[in-house]
Amino acid sequence: MSKLSAARLKVKNDSLVDEFNASIHFDKRLYRHDIRGSIAHAEMLASCGILTAEEAEAIKDGLLAVLGEIESGGFVFRTEDEDIHMAVEKRMTEIVGSVGGKLHTARSRNDQVAVDVRMYLREETEVIAGYMAELVKTLTDKAEKHLGVLMPGYTHLQTAQPVLVSHWLMAYVQMFRRDYGRMTDCAERMNFSPLGSGALAGTTFPVNRDMTAEKLGFTAPTENSMDSVSDRDFALEFLSAAAICQMHLSRFSEELIIFSTSEFAFIDLSDDFCTGSSIMPQKKNPDMPELIRGKTGRMYGNLVSLLTTMKGLPLAYNKDMQEDKEPLFDSVDTIKASLRIFIPMIEKMGINAEKMTKAAKLGFSTATDLADYLVRKGMPFREAHHIVGSAVAFALDKRVDISELTIDELKSFSEKIDDDIYSYITPEASVSSRKAKGGTAGESVKAQIESARKFLDEV
Ligand code: ARG
Repeated sequence: MSKLSAARLKVKNDSLVDEFNASIHFDKRLYRHDIRGSIAHAEMLASCGILTAEEAEAIKDGLLAVLGEIESGGFVFRTEDEDIHMAVEKRMTEIVGSVGGKLHTARSRNDQVAVDVRMYLREETEVIAGYMAELVKTLTDKAEKHLGVLMPGYTHLQTAQPVLVSHWLMAYVQMFRRDYGRMTDCAERMNFSPLGSGALAGTTFPVNRDMTAEKLGFTAPTENSMDSVSDRDFALEFLSAAAICQMHLSRFSEELIIFSTSEFAFIDLSDDFCTGSSIMPQKKNPDMPELIRGKTGRMYGNLVSLLTTMKGLPLAYNKDMQEDKEPLFDSVDTIKASLRIFIPMIEKMGINAEKMTKAAKLGFSTATDLADYLVRKGMPFREAHHIVGSAVAFALDKRVDISELTIDELKSFSEKIDDDIYSYITPEASVSSRKAKGGTAGESVKAQIESARKFLDEV
């Protein structure tokens, strides 16, 4: 059988053009959605009297036969068929005969591809959002389990103030909750059916777009046919949400890489997620977090790639838009794999409480607490900041922490310092005094955990 759309052309495309034009080797992953969309379309055509019930039935049987062939591995994907839409229709027509040619009534590949990609993507967003929620749960469990363990918090990767390990973990919970929100939010916005928009201007046939929208699980049909066939911002929103989540995973990965070095030794990554070195026998390399960090580049690339493809495209459909699929599929695969690796990696991650607590006492992490103490005694903050700076310099010379200075030494910096000072400038006191909402005190972290549990109950 010749190509379905070749009659207008005087010459047969050469194979180089066919190959360049084809998307079948990557868009074949849309086969289920394509067949489902076509069945709904055929049923709708019959119910509107555009096809007879028998014709629609024959087409539906043919489509199901094609589905069977694809799923059993018996289907031959051919470059000359260009894309999955053509390939399915052509094979269905081979099976059912010329009636198969009636399927494409009141439809164009432009609305067909738009509906397929939306169905595919909304399914994937659900899976991905599910992984995000699972990661939130894993982190929340971990935070609950290690409540009470201290670690240094950093700014500029310099010791800043002590925090609870659980507070650090719960920071990521916030990020992944927002990622979840972005993912489900874009899924909701993409869930409108372009089917029935035709090539760009709508169709002359009395179709029922509400019916296909409903059959295919869409909220409603889209409202403008030109927009329907040329909109790819639903894919861009997804790529953006996925890139942001990958960025979060990447920051987390970076911390895991640093914290698992022998210099830090705050955490232990399970051997399952590391590899050895081919030459250095002592090595345990954090390959999984490194790869997750590394793959962030392609996630950004995929977003920028489609943004650039779309930039300057006139309405409505242009073949440039076939370039939407590879970045989209790659981002779907990458974010799914990254999350699926990340969840058990966190689950199995060891927390070295002793090492972290010890580090929380280093680096003058409670200097701010000493300053706050002076402020509570009436000193302007700037003055307190200056005095504590001098105390830190003095302690640095003595090679001790400020909490290890004698009371006389401390008093030499300000008369406002009393014997009770030691109950403010230990890391434990520093942490438990940060009780305001969102702070690192135990109560506040428990409230965060509770809120995450509530979120998990609701999703
Ligand atoms: N493979 C095409 C794509 O992905 C399908 C739509 C083709 N439409 C057309 N008028 N050439 O964009």
